[in-house]
Formats: sequence, C-alpha cells, structure tokens
Amino acid sequence: MKIHTYEKFWLAASMLLIVGFILTITYGTVGIGIAMVDDSADTVDPDNLGDHPKFSDPGVEQVGENEYDVYVRALQFAFIPGDVEVPANSTVTFHVTSSDVIHSYSVVGTNANTMVIPGEVATITVETEEPGEHGIICTEYCGSGHHNMAGKLIIVPEDEFELEEEQ
Ligand code: CUA
Repeated sequence: MKIHTYEKFWLAASMLLIVGFILTITYGTVGIGIAMVDDSADTVDPDNLGDHPKFSDPGVEQVGENEYDVYVRALQFAFIPGDVEVPANSTVTFHVTSSDVIHSYSVVGTNANTMVIPGEVATITVETEEPGEHGIICTEYCGSGHHNMAGKLIIVPEDEFELEEEQ
C-alpha cells in the first residue's frame, strides 16, 4: 500500500502528540509530587475529636529545633485555630481533620492545599521563609458559610516567636 508522504507526516505527528499527552499526564500525576487523598493516612473518630490527644486542643507544638506540628480542626464554618503563628525558616507540618463534612485546607501563595475528610487526618508540610502572612481558605464547597471559612498563617521573625502556654 502506498502511503502519501504528507499522510505519513501527519500520522507521525499525531502519534507524537498522543505520546506527548501521555507523558504530560504521567508527569502531572507522579512527577511533581501531588499526593491524592487515600485511606493510608491516620484515621480519627470525627464524632469524638474532643477525646483525641491532639485534636481536643488543636494548635501549634514544637517537635524539633526548627520543626513544628500544627493540629487543626475544620468544621462548618471555621478552622480551629483560625490564625496559626509560626516562626520564619522552619518546617511546619499541618495535621488537619474535619468534624463534619468535607472541607479543604489551602494556604494561599504556597503549594499547600489538601482535602479534609472527616475521619481522616490530612498532612501537609510548609517550609516557611520570610516573615509575612498567608490567607488560609477552604476551597471545597461545604455549605452556606463556605465563603466564611478562612484563617491566617502568620509567619513571624524567629526571635519574636513564642509558643502559647500549655493550659
Ligand atoms: Cu469548608 Cu468550604
């Protein structure tokens, strides 16, 4: 069978395009470290967060020299705590869970953005650099007050940072 030169060219071009699409999707899935929410994360009982050792009194705790864990509870329609204060140049790991419906926890201006599912603990890490403020928002529609779900990540200079006293 004789295939016209132009036809060969377009055949080859469309093959390349398909390979290109597959490579793009593969890269987007595994290459840039986007993790899907799955059931491998820690689980909690969303109805009894008050009995949980961390989520009963959520907030910031220091776990290493420049490392902090932040426990956050999401609910209709707030984050507890709403404002999170951490020092600059530190590694901050958020552990977020929901006590009612699906929310999200998204730190504006960073690549920290996770779904928050009741019963599961979503974990995301942010490396703080310069002092400053980032908004924290819920990007998952969760009801009539969805647009009011907001908080703030406040990054303060290291020498101004103080952990809140344990009660
Ligand atoms: Cu919570 Cu939208």
